[in-house]
Amino acid sequence: MPPLAERCITIAAARMHNRWASASRNFRGLAAKSACRGRGRGATLAPMKSPPVSAISVKGLTKRFGALDVLRGIDFAAADGEVIAIIGSSGSGKSTLLRCINLLEIPDAGEVIIGGETIGMTRLRDGSQRPADRAQVDRMRQSLGMVFQSFNLWSHLTVLENVTEAPVHVQKRPKAEVTQEARALLAKVGIAEKADQYPAQISGGQQQRAAIARALAMRPRVMLFDEPTSALDPELVGEVLRVIRALAEEGRTMLLVTHEMGFAREVANRVIFLHHGVIEEDGPPDQVFGHPKSERCRQFLSSQLRA
Ligand SMILES: Nc1ncnc2c1ncn2[C@@H]1O[C@H](COP(=O)(O)OP(=O)(O)OP(=O)(O)O)[C@@H](O)[C@H]1O
Ligand SMILES: [Mg+2]
Repeated sequence: MPPLAERCITIAAARMHNRWASASRNFRGLAAKSACRGRGRGATLAPMKSPPVSAISVKGLTKRFGALDVLRGIDFAAADGEVIAIIGSSGSGKSTLLRCINLLEIPDAGEVIIGGETIGMTRLRDGSQRPADRAQVDRMRQSLGMVFQSFNLWSHLTVLENVTEAPVHVQKRPKAEVTQEARALLAKVGIAEKADQYPAQISGGQQQRAAIARALAMRPRVMLFDEPTSALDPELVGEVLRVIRALAEEGRTMLLVTHEMGFAREVANRVIFLHHGVIEEDGPPDQVFGHPKSERCRQFLSSQLRA
């Protein structure tokens, strides 16, 4: 059974889907109306120019566990369509970074901005932060599809039910439509024939592909992968990487924490090397893997080659 907090994000995120979609439709309508206001008959509408909005950005993100500074001021932005591989040695803060982005961990300071909207925080008297508006957090999580190392499928539901659960019961989308979409997603990840099996009846690679289908069923703007293949037997790794590669090729925005260096180099269009909670290197794969500026990154990469 998945940890409670991780299960809850699927549900809570989905709960806001309808309200957010409708609010966003209303907002677009109002924006269009206000753009027209005051114009004479026959006036042509000049296209409104606005700076491109990052799919995700974080600014000055810090996180500490007790005396341990795990994230020490992380700044980066991911544009729509970018595939960013996040690499670094064990304990460098990669998972904590993803968990702070979807607020499974609450950062001590800094901003998380999803689709141009900053997640509001309230500072408590003890100096810690908490989200100012739970509804906003739920809404933001709606746009983040998280895939964990340990799959986190619901063991008492079939593969198909795992995929349809949140869209039907939380997003309140029509069951027939969701089921049809879920079957298409299962076919896309290559496990259409496993729809009626339970997680315990399928392999780890198949479970992870079901978990990817489940995340996609929420129609997220960004996919977050935390070492999606590291719990798999080596012969099952390839089938999951193939699915992730296909998602990259179709232009999905993804943050991918991985120890698969060859894969990161091949699918990512940008690589971030994290060391002791700081971004030491951030650039295109050829630069980071071929000519890293940071000595620590060089050492890390050569240790990976030896492993
Ligand atoms: N909830 C927590 N409480 C206390 N310490 C934590 C917690 N979560 C992570 N840490 C510590 O923070 C540091 C960074 O952990 P994190 O899981 O982010 O590393 P990582 O880069 O993902 O490592 P790995 O490659 O092994 O998955 C580690 O020293 C870890 O022990
Ligand atoms: Mg980790």
